[in-house]
Amino acid sequence: LKNINDDLSRSNISTWNSWVLDFENFVLNQEPAKPETAFDQNYFEGTWRHGSESYTLESRRKIEGRNPELIKSVLNPMKLLDAGCGPGFLMQMLKEIEVEVVGIDASPAGISSAPVGVRDKIVLGSVLDLPFKDKEFDVVLSREVLEHLTVIELHKAISEMCRVSSRLVYVTTRFAQNPKSLFDVETEFDADPTHITCMVQPLVRAIFNLHGYKVRPDLQNEMDWLNKGRVLVYERTEKALS
Ligand SMILES: C[S@@+](CC[C@H](N)C(=O)[O-])C[C@H]1O[C@@H](n2cnc3c(N)ncnc32)[C@H](O)[C@@H]1O
Repeated sequence: LKNINDDLSRSNISTWNSWVLDFENFVLNQEPAKPETAFDQNYFEGTWRHGSESYTLESRRKIEGRNPELIKSVLNPMKLLDAGCGPGFLMQMLKEIEVEVVGIDASPAGISSAPVGVRDKIVLGSVLDLPFKDKEFDVVLSREVLEHLTVIELHKAISEMCRVSSRLVYVTTRFAQNPKSLFDVETEFDADPTHITCMVQPLVRAIFNLHGYKVRPDLQNEMDWLNKGRVLVYERTEKALS
């Protein structure tokens, strides 16, 4: 029996090693999207999406549904950052319910389509290098951004969000649907040609842990009102490094 177990664990290790090498190969060869050009006017205003819904305040209001109210009541932000806010429509919805929010996005086209009342609250910049102090916000949210980054960039973006939050980070993204291993990274080009990184959820969760953050399943469940399993809510612990 011992021999069988030894054989099994040896073959497991070599399987895991081959997964990690595939991951290494993928990560080191992945090309970043250039947000300044990839997220142009056509990205937001074109009718190329399934169902032809373009990005308008009213179409986003339907998609966001209960999110603005839940951000207010469940996350209870005092100072909120929307990292990768696009045209700022969620910021507008939050403003309507008296939640003040600062936004940052790398797309000039997105920012120029923002409603007048929030446009001056949006900084042109990258989630990879947030121009904010450590713990400057108590809540950082980032909806539908991580899947547009490379794996290396995703790691850096999570690192930056954890750095500038003093309490919570709330993220929604696309995860791998049919992974063959923990290290699989899928794309979703049929939905959006810029969906270059759909990682396996537990690996993304581990990245938060490596930044000294712990999951808040209670808040996560409340934020995931559509039960899509695409919501992460993480909380800073005293182990966070910056
Ligand atoms: C699908 S849109 C999501 C916009 C908004 N969060 C929402 O949910 O409607 C993705 C956004 O991520 C932004 N983005 C992509 N890479 C970025 C980066 N490195 N830094 C800042 N924003 C980035 C794009 O410009 C785009 O506005």
